[in-house]
Amino acid sequence: MHTTIFYYTGTGNSLWVARKLAELLGETELVPIAKYPEIIPQGTIGLVFPVHMWGVPAPVLRFVEALRPGRPEYVFAVAVNGSQVAATLVQLQKVLAEHNLTLAAGFGVVMPSNYTPFGGPGPQEEQNRRFRLAEEKVRYIADKVKEKAGLPVEKGPFWQSLLSATVYKLSFDRVPQMDAQFWVDDKCNHCGICARICPAHNITLQEGQPVWNHQCEQCFACINWCPQAAIQFGKNTAQRPRYHHPEVSLKDIILR
Ligand SMILES: Cc1cc2nc3c(=O)[nH]c(=O)nc-3n(C[C@H](O)[C@H](O)[C@H](O)COP(=O)(O)O)c2cc1C
Repeated sequence: MHTTIFYYTGTGNSLWVARKLAELLGETELVPIAKYPEIIPQGTIGLVFPVHMWGVPAPVLRFVEALRPGRPEYVFAVAVNGSQVAATLVQLQKVLAEHNLTLAAGFGVVMPSNYTPFGGPGPQEEQNRRFRLAEEKVRYIADKVKEKAGLPVEKGPFWQSLLSATVYKLSFDRVPQMDAQFWVDDKCNHCGICARICPAHNITLQEGQPVWNHQCEQCFACINWCPQAAIQFGKNTAQRPRYHHPEVSLKDIILR
């Protein structure tokens, strides 16, 4: 069974899930969504991506829009989240159906949160617990994918679906401009890593300082990977911990 997993990631959680699945499934190619490949879906197709604001991130939707007509044998998705998967997979299922694709199964995997303004990843013990459970869940997903199982997509409780229907929808068009809240403090040593890891190429350097150009995808790679923790978002991030998946390196993210 040849599988292609298309992944999108800011801080490596989704990349880690995609890699583990590839290992368990065998014969699997990993393709970053950030490169917007125009593909003809065939064989087994997986989409692995983070939940953003209780829904599917725009780059993943653009990827689906760009799919050329094809007849994949089996399509599955994994929405990697910080414990609120909400109606993300229901949304994806509908979008895929508009492109004549059936999402046969949609799984949530809970990982430490990379949303720094709300506190970020939490205590190390809780992060470790999530890593352990995520590993188990990925094994379960791989078994189901091997069986080509048809399963109802996973979703959160009703109150989370309400957030998908309200906050996600209301904020979606404003996401690219939300980068107005990013700023750098005087720890910035002008290394330029933020510009290199931004999947949207939204960061340029002016006199060595990062400038966000309002095409942000809100993946939060820049704030979390800055080696000096010099990037801030709004007023409350200075004391908040930064996060990336411990088994994913800066190089992996630059190459994605
Ligand atoms: C802008 C933004 C919005 C987020 N919204 C949600 C959310 O609605 N529900 C949730 O459970 N996690 C949310 N998260 C957390 C991420 O989904 C989670 O940390 C994910 O594992 C990150 O994956 P990545 O490392 O592959 O980017 C959000 C993160 C960001 C940056």
